[in-house]
Amino acid sequence: MAGLDYNERIPNNVGLAENRRLQRALEDWQPKFLEWWHDMGPAGFQARDVYLRTAVSVDAQGWARFGYVKMPDYRWGIFLAEPEAGRLVNFGAHLGQPAWQEVPGEYRGTLRRLIVTQGDTEPASVEQQRHLGRTSPSLYDLRNLFQVNVEEGRHLWAMVYLLDAYFGRDGREESEALLQRRSGDADKPRILGAFNEPTPDWMSFFLFCFFTDRDGKYQLASLAESGFDPLSRTCRFMLTEEAHHLWVGESGIQRIVQRTCELMREHRTDDVRRHGGIDLPTIQKYINFHCSVSFDLFGSEVSTNAANFYTMGLKGRFEETKKRDDHRLKDDSYPVSGLDGDRAIVSEQPALTSLNERLRDDFVADCQRGLDRWNRVIREHGIEAKLTLPHRGFHRAIGNFAEVRLSPDGRLVTQAEWDAGQREWMPTEEDRAYVASLMQPVAEPAKFASWIAAPARGINGQAMDFQYIKLG
Ligand SMILES: [Fe+2]
Ligand SMILES: [Fe+2]
Repeated sequence: MAGLDYNERIPNNVGLAENRRLQRALEDWQPKFLEWWHDMGPAGFQARDVYLRTAVSVDAQGWARFGYVKMPDYRWGIFLAEPEAGRLVNFGAHLGQPAWQEVPGEYRGTLRRLIVTQGDTEPASVEQQRHLGRTSPSLYDLRNLFQVNVEEGRHLWAMVYLLDAYFGRDGREESEALLQRRSGDADKPRILGAFNEPTPDWMSFFLFCFFTDRDGKYQLASLAESGFDPLSRTCRFMLTEEAHHLWVGESGIQRIVQRTCELMREHRTDDVRRHGGIDLPTIQKYINFHCSVSFDLFGSEVSTNAANFYTMGLKGRFEETKKRDDHRLKDDSYPVSGLDGDRAIVSEQPALTSLNERLRDDFVADCQRGLDRWNRVIREHGIEAKLTLPHRGFHRAIGNFAEVRLSPDGRLVTQAEWDAGQREWMPTEEDRAYVASLMQPVAEPAKFASWIAAPARGINGQAMDFQYIKLG
């Protein structure tokens, strides 16, 4: 790997210095990005030194550097995973052809749309999380929030690089539009539903990282299989950073569950609210909400778009090259969830149009492993309770279940039962108000809010009382 200059304006391993046209396009976009970061990035703390990791290469042994940096000075670089010699298109109609180094003309519009849709989620999540800095349960958590935020910013850079480098004028227009849409805005919303929901409190933030960033992981993993090689390499490196976001979510909820269990044991009660904790039923309701909106992000169970992306060789399955089948799927079937009269059932459907459902299955299995770890914490405290994922038909706005009402355990219910069940299934106004009341900032090193346990260890091996953010 060529030496990378950390002091470059745009650190990169794509030979930016030798590509004047691209360099000009990105240098023209950079101040607009910074303006967006200023207006829509984290509220407050922009002048503070934050202990952040920065991607500086794609070397698996040392791809990141930790150090204090003011967020607006963060080096949002462009990094693609190393090319694989002789890489092929590994699925679809072009199976076995050399992977594309340029955009195939016939797929230009489709590919651009895929990249824009992925790119749009990156700034959206930063916008959704911009007020959380005011209520952080610790300096450690505040640092983790900002780490996620700057890396989502870098993921936006990654997609803008593809648009500017490979899509000419349309690409530059899309790059601008990515900075103009706003999460939750009625007139110019972000493209996908879950990215227009507010992230009002830290439990929502952790669950967003757990569920919604995990949708991101599976979308990126499918795009990492793409026959369009620059997209594949970009996504492969983004997944390296994404793993930390998922960990922030999972470990955050695990620490909440741990604190809740400690309070339950200490006070011999399920009602930990009186002791400043978040009771398990409330955690379950938040899980139901965030999981269901993330299910929608995978799209309809039966989708000709998904089939086309696959046949075109643009978006594969999770771990496509590890699968042992014909990688064309024309004659295969796949079990898909849907309705039969008043029952949720699973039936065999053509594999090609079922690719969204298959990816959702990969996601569910991954989520369940996280829930198992949370449930282990509950068990270790000798408590009889279990957190569960809602049925995939619960609270859906897209796909086979969009027109009906299902309970979290998968029963079709009437509108009256649905209305009555809401108090037990989804966060109520009171639940949200209670959680909001707990959101008091804690800014002293090694101190944590009442509702969350301390982590087992510090970031990058730092001591527990490390000053993750210099508050002056
Ligand atoms: Fe991201
Ligand atoms: Fe992420």
